[in-house]
Amino acid sequence: MSNITIVGTGKLAFAVTLGFLRAINLGMLDAKLIIIGRSKESLEKFNSLRSAKIITTTKYEDAKDGDYCILCILPTGVQELYPKLKTVFEKFRTSRTVISLTSGLNIMEAKNLLGVFHGHMVCGTTTTNVAYGLGYSVFAGINGNNSALPSAVKLFNYLGKTSIVKGYKNVLKSIPIVGSGNAFDATFLWAFTQYEESRGNQASHCKRLRYIGKFLSRAFHSKNPLEYLLRAKTRARRSMVNYIKAKLRYLTGELGYEQDSALKLILETMQLTIEVLIKSYINKEAIENHNNKIVTKGGCTERGIGELRLELNKVFNLELAEPNFSLFESRYREIMRPVYKRTLLFKKDAKKI
Ligand SMILES: NC(=O)c1ccc[n+]([C@@H]2O[C@H](COP(=O)([O-])OP(=O)(O)OC[C@H]3O[C@@H](n4cnc5c(N)ncnc54)[C@H](OP(=O)(O)O)[C@@H]3O)[C@@H](O)[C@H]2O)c1
Repeated sequence: MSNITIVGTGKLAFAVTLGFLRAINLGMLDAKLIIIGRSKESLEKFNSLRSAKIITTTKYEDAKDGDYCILCILPTGVQELYPKLKTVFEKFRTSRTVISLTSGLNIMEAKNLLGVFHGHMVCGTTTTNVAYGLGYSVFAGINGNNSALPSAVKLFNYLGKTSIVKGYKNVLKSIPIVGSGNAFDATFLWAFTQYEESRGNQASHCKRLRYIGKFLSRAFHSKNPLEYLLRAKTRARRSMVNYIKAKLRYLTGELGYEQDSALKLILETMQLTIEVLIKSYINKEAIENHNNKIVTKGGCTERGIGELRLELNKVFNLELAEPNFSLFESRYREIMRPVYKRTLLFKKDAKKI
């Protein structure tokens, strides 16, 4: 049995816990989860899951037995918490894999704060879709040390799909698609299905999403995904293609992605989000619920989502027979720019905003 320590009690920590609990309950994973929070109040939601497989604690020393230690805190908490973990890791020298999911961190500085411990560390990012086993996680070694990558990937494969990139810079570059990108996609998909409904599309919300999911899956598996997408005939498919094109231009033009891999990443992550939205819809959850599990109040993602919503009101203007994407590509870029820049700010800068 593995001991998985999760440090943090926020939205990401909760989603990761739900994902592992799901894998444990399905008999896929044999593990005990140790959740470490700063206060008893912040741990209450974990206790309400009433699982014998979950232990909650405010004592950092309880990280001593973790085979895995997953760090899910904000960058502003690193200076306070990592030295506490360093003391524990130095005292209890069991071999461990440390997985940092905090974005906007100076990763070398963070690693130094943890000191030299027995085991290895990787950095990565993921989505709250992991709660359903439908996450997409991206990992990289730190400073050329890739020894912990196989065990991190093996663990997160229980929570959905995973991929490996080279270096922390590339982990950060994937955040607008893999991390907060999930909330942007959900916002688009919601506006899109509302519009389709208003145009007399009789299919249920789930059916419309499934139709789009199948289209994306076919594109993903086709020989030339872009060519496949550009052949889209129906209004619904063309809308999706316009959104994907905007994302693709942003990733290739601004973040320096290579086109084929960017497109595959977009298609793969959107399919997972569609599956999660179908589940949420069946559970009668509103889109706000989905996004509330991802965004921090008053943060740059919340601001970006608000701007995207306004833009989508123009694109899917109910008075128009066809959506109007003429300005969408440049607006999408402007909306995403500050979201990505925020992930590049290191701790000392993050405090200022
Ligand atoms: N949410 C996502 O979808 C997502 C996706 C990818 C990456 N991430 C990254 O994961 C990290 C956590 O995100 P989140 O969405 O879970 O945020 P969140 O819901 O705001 O939770 C933040 C966590 O950080 C802790 N924390 C905050 N300030 C702290 C401080 N000064 N000292 C110690 N601990 C502090 C909080 O502890 P308390 O509970 O004790 O206050 C809480 O556990 C962020 O770096 C985020 O960018 C998030």
